[in-house]
Amino acid sequence: MLNPKIEQIEFELLLEGIYQAYGYDFRDYAPASLRRRVQKSMDNLGVKTISEFQDKILHEKESFVHFLNTVSIDVTAMFRDPDFFLAVRQKIVPIIRELPSVRIWHAGCATGEEVYAMAILLQEENLYNKVRIYATDMNAVVLDKAKNGIYPLKNIQDCTANYHKSGGSHEFSTYYTAKYNNVIMKPELKKNIVWAQHNLVTDRSFHEFDLILCRNVMIYFERPLQEHVHQLFLDSMPIGGILGLGKKETMYSSAFRPNYMEMDGNAKLFRRVK
Ligand SMILES: C[S@@+](CC[C@H](N)C(=O)[O-])C[C@H]1O[C@@H](n2cnc3c(N)ncnc32)[C@H](O)[C@@H]1O
Repeated sequence: MLNPKIEQIEFELLLEGIYQAYGYDFRDYAPASLRRRVQKSMDNLGVKTISEFQDKILHEKESFVHFLNTVSIDVTAMFRDPDFFLAVRQKIVPIIRELPSVRIWHAGCATGEEVYAMAILLQEENLYNKVRIYATDMNAVVLDKAKNGIYPLKNIQDCTANYHKSGGSHEFSTYYTAKYNNVIMKPELKKNIVWAQHNLVTDRSFHEFDLILCRNVMIYFERPLQEHVHQLFLDSMPIGGILGLGKKETMYSSAFRPNYMEMDGNAKLFRRVK
């Protein structure tokens, strides 16, 4: 019979060990979801106790990479939450149209689908040439997939439907080439995207952005870590900059809420006012 108190100690030691050994800091992630992910990774690696898992993770880099891939939930989709992209078209496009050049940060971009969706939207609005998109994630494996821009063909029907719901009126198939069971995003969509590894917990601000999108990432963080990330975003945005969060995310309980006015409550768009 496992002793929950001992398990908790093992869990904390595991996170501390990972931080010390690899620099990835999961200590302020929401524990319930993280614990489930650890268990999944343990099951896959065939280990019974967290201490045994820790031993494996600390001594075998490939086990750590396995853990990282299990822990970084990379569920995403092109034009995910079409209302959000519709709000980008209706409310953000008119603002950025007035700017001479535009920098956008997709923080926690996973396999990149939302980044290509943004590139498509900007191209249709004739804005893509003056935009540079920085797309970052802590996980190098998902970033590689994002850079390749190759996605399963079976998802494309849903993406196409969402694209149209988000205000897209072109033939969606013009944005990719179908090959076997995949689609390959058109190279011109990639030309203004910079892909980079960046960890929201341990890395600093690296630019100033007119628009920061961090959707469905902070739901996995405890409150103090969410506040840390909000500070990072404030350090990375001028007055007038815009922050977009995920559907289930909110700023209401954040100490940074007074820094923003709500642009669109449904799409979770906030504009920095101070
Ligand atoms: C659920 S996906 C969200 C993808 C996309 N933004 C969307 O909404 O469809 C969450 C992503 O956040 C990344 N992530 C988690 N913690 C992170 C951190 N500390 N720094 C950067 N990225 C992180 C994960 O690797 C994963 O790819």
